[in-house]
Amino acid sequence: MSTQVTVNRFNAMVAPTALDVFLSDVWPYQTHFSQAVESPLAELMTLSGLQSVESLVDIPRRAKCRVHYTHEKGRAPETNIAPEEMIRAFKASQATIYVQQLQDTTIRAWCQDVDAALNLVPGTARVNAFTSPPGRGLGWHWDDHEIFIIQVRGTKRWYLAPEDWPRGKGLTADGDDLILTHENGEQERRHIQECRIFDLTPGSVLFVPSDVWHTTATKEESLHLVVNVGRNVPMN
Ligand SMILES: [Fe+2]
Repeated sequence: MSTQVTVNRFNAMVAPTALDVFLSDVWPYQTHFSQAVESPLAELMTLSGLQSVESLVDIPRRAKCRVHYTHEKGRAPETNIAPEEMIRAFKASQATIYVQQLQDTTIRAWCQDVDAALNLVPGTARVNAFTSPPGRGLGWHWDDHEIFIIQVRGTKRWYLAPEDWPRGKGLTADGDDLILTHENGEQERRHIQECRIFDLTPGSVLFVPSDVWHTTATKEESLHLVVNVGRNVPMN
């Protein structure tokens, strides 16, 4: 498989939007959703390390794995536990498995392509993988870097607040309302219908700008990649 740097892979992530249009009209402040499922994405869809939780926990990586017990209220995430324990947590506790900085040859080629297309310092783009059973995901939060989400298997629903909602101190759900707590402690009730819903299926790619509130719900067992492309990408 070629590791030559091109922008063909990146083009598939934003198709049918052309790269120059993405750079001028979308990047880095607007959300973008692609469901074109262009052929270069097959490299990721068929990657052996992404086909099951058992193969994912063995995939080459440079950083820690985490287990998030999203179905067990109050249970803290665990880091760097043995692969068989991660598989058990996934199956017995419906935990989400989070694998950081994949180093597979194909993944590295995608990172080089993303850096080239966005004119980023080589080595900026990093890929993490999440696999989760059906159910709710992490609660409402924002990330301080831009991300592309590439759905590999299963289906997952993403809820995104409008880009202009302030980060504030917190966002919590109360039925169909969302309660936004501002920096000064004041609270404001906003309706969930103001949020955008994206249903990701295999080959879908969602670009989420930094600082945008989001949460997820997994509809059927899911594996997605997160391509971190911001300057504030966490180092752990
Ligand atoms: Fe996030």
